[in-house]
Amino acid sequence: MDVAEWLKGLGLDQYAPQFYDNHITGDLLPNLTADDLRDLGVSSVGHRRRLLDAIGLLRDKASADPLASTERSPVEQRETAPGERRQVTVLFVDLTGYTTLSKLLDAEEIEGILTAFFEVADAAIIEHGGTIDKHIGDCVMAVFGAPVAHDNDAERAVLAALGIRDSVPMLRQRLGRDIGVHAGIASGEVLASQVGSARHKAYTVTGESVNLASRLTDHARSGEVLLSSSVYRGLQDRLDCEDVGDIDVKGLVSPVRAWRLLGTRHAPVGNRAFVGRASELNQFAAATTTCLELGRGRVIYVRGEAGLGKTRLIEEFQHRARRNGFTCHSGLVLDFGAGSGRDAVRALIRSIVLAGDAEPSVGNVSPDSIGALVDAGQIGADHAIFLYDLLNVPPPIELRALYDAMDTGTRSRGVWTTITQLVASAARANALLIVIEDLHWSDASVLARISAVAEATSDCPLLLVLTSRNIGDPMARGWKPGGPILTIDLAPLHHEEALALARNVLGQMSPFAMSCLERAAGNPLFLEQLLRNAGSTPTAPFRTRSRAWCRLESTGSNPLTSRPCRRHPCSGSAFRLTGCAP
Ligand SMILES: Nc1ncnc2c1ncn2[C@@H]1O[C@H](COP(=O)(O)OP(=O)(O)O)[C@@H](O)[C@H]1O
Ligand SMILES: [Mg+2]
Repeated sequence: MDVAEWLKGLGLDQYAPQFYDNHITGDLLPNLTADDLRDLGVSSVGHRRRLLDAIGLLRDKASADPLASTERSPVEQRETAPGERRQVTVLFVDLTGYTTLSKLLDAEEIEGILTAFFEVADAAIIEHGGTIDKHIGDCVMAVFGAPVAHDNDAERAVLAALGIRDSVPMLRQRLGRDIGVHAGIASGEVLASQVGSARHKAYTVTGESVNLASRLTDHARSGEVLLSSSVYRGLQDRLDCEDVGDIDVKGLVSPVRAWRLLGTRHAPVGNRAFVGRASELNQFAAATTTCLELGRGRVIYVRGEAGLGKTRLIEEFQHRARRNGFTCHSGLVLDFGAGSGRDAVRALIRSIVLAGDAEPSVGNVSPDSIGALVDAGQIGADHAIFLYDLLNVPPPIELRALYDAMDTGTRSRGVWTTITQLVASAARANALLIVIEDLHWSDASVLARISAVAEATSDCPLLLVLTSRNIGDPMARGWKPGGPILTIDLAPLHHEEALALARNVLGQMSPFAMSCLERAAGNPLFLEQLLRNAGSTPTAPFRTRSRAWCRLESTGSNPLTSRPCRRHPCSGSAFRLTGCAP
């Protein structure tokens, strides 16, 4: 596709030079995000909206047309054939307070509320790789897994729901109305097809999980996200949830169990087993002591294959750092594409800014909080505009004009300096441990922002812990975060450590457990999964329980079996547990 022609068709050809200068070719258009457009210098909200709508159409078209998918990543190339059975996750998000408002307000105001809500909800869904199936009244139905399937569709749906829920304070403020959202998420097999008459057909999915997600939404109170058991089971090691018991669902014979989503996992580390890693913990202890004594920190770079225990080790670091008086903040780089990957640093900065609020909230940062940071000297007044940009908070009108006049390079540099300033002043107030995980998914823009965080380590009590898999490791591609670096290359657990972990899972060892131990080869994730599936029929495929498994499958390197992994033809990832009978 010719980018200049496409822009011309939208009446926005004034942006063609920026697109050209930034090497945006036709194949990249469907993946552009609001952040990218901002970086390209599209400062007008109206223009951005128009471009995003057109980008959404390109994406829909690319999804519906398998031939157009040749440039997508391999995991995204599982397209739906007509009338195909698919494993999907369905998300319903519904406005609360809308019925009352619709009785009080005139049609224009109602339309304004719906538009604002759909803009936020649709953007979050698309950003996480979902498809907007339809808008029904004040509700959005989204599908993750069809027509395009990813390795981690349930997780994407959950993150999209959380993203929408976290946007509510901003929506309330913008609209001046007391609105809220509630959501339901269910996964299962559906029939994906073009439904309709000869005159009008639309791609959609039908099946029990659609009905279930909708009913879960009805049961969710304002601010709540309810999950079906299948979603909960697949993500239980990554989410904090509360059992809400059984609920009746029209059309289903027996009641179904539902789970209230509290957030992404922050399980109290103290209660969970932790084995081995003595030398890594000693290295961390030394870095902590030096950091506190000298007021200077470092980057700690933890590297290792999937499931080896990077996250678990970092949790232990955080636990110990807190005991030593450190404040901890973290961000996670997601694999949802370049645009949203940037959110790792945004989430981190948001968490630092909100922590300073008198009444910290989970929602968006308010302009007042940014003003307070300037007043307290934590960022220079001339940097406030970059913080508005970084946190996606609408700036005051006078700053907007200033921002509009800047070129992309000035903006990026301004954002980097602001990140360094803010992190440094937070660390000077109290020793800080910042964790940014999964750098193997990061692009150049994320890395530049992480470098800006790393800048602050050399003269502030700041420890920046980064994790990456070996495959995709940005340091192997020549990236260096700056400042002193301690690199920790994680090795598999030693036999005795793996044994201790196995005992913890099973209680006692058996020949079966010993065979799992051998197969897992010191990888704790594989070991846990093997042991926990002790009761399953060896030949029955079981659905993946974590992202790592899916990804391993997609790289064809599942060490559980010496055979190549099998992919279920239409329902995403599944494994066959072989040769390891209890
Ligand atoms: N040292 C350890 N002690 C106990 N359990 C561990 C240890 N390392 C990893 N695990 C467990 O193994 C699983 C995978 O670990 P994780 O830290 O998520 O791996 P990674 O981040 O490297 O992909 C988790 O369930 C985790 O709790
Ligand atoms: Mg991890």
